[in-house]
Amino acid sequence: MKKTFPVAEILADEKIYLNEDRISNPPEVFKLICDLMAKSAVSDPASILDVGCAAGEQIYHLQKQFPNATFRGLGVSVSLIDQACERNPKSQFFVGSALDAS
Ligand SMILES: C[S@@+](CC[C@H](N)C(=O)[O-])C[C@H]1O[C@@H](n2cnc3c(N)ncnc32)[C@H](O)[C@@H]1O
Repeated sequence: MKKTFPVAEILADEKIYLNEDRISNPPEVFKLICDLMAKSAVSDPASILDVGCAAGEQIYHLQKQFPNATFRGLGVSVSLIDQACERNPKSQFFVGSALDAS
């Protein structure tokens, strides 16, 4: 059964991700994820899905590392997904909860 995502959680995420500049100042975890993916069995992935993509910052950085990949992002906040689209015009983004996937 489809459940409504808690509005308070969405607003809390928007407060963080619409105000932090994680493009100019990527957190260490972004570099760690890029390194782990580069060392993984699939070193040249055709497509990458970021489940819970916030405002698309991780996708922005991964695109530099994997220029041949197609990127998609899923998130629950319309405002964050809007920003992700602006930031990553070649990628596809979807508003929705991963918990509703079946
Ligand atoms: C910790 S942030 C990570 C953001 C991004 N992947 C990154 O590395 O910068 C988690 C994000 O997942 C979203 N999220 C939480 N639960 C979700 C769900 N069930 N389906 C889709 N997105 C979800 C949150 O709104 C938030 O934007």
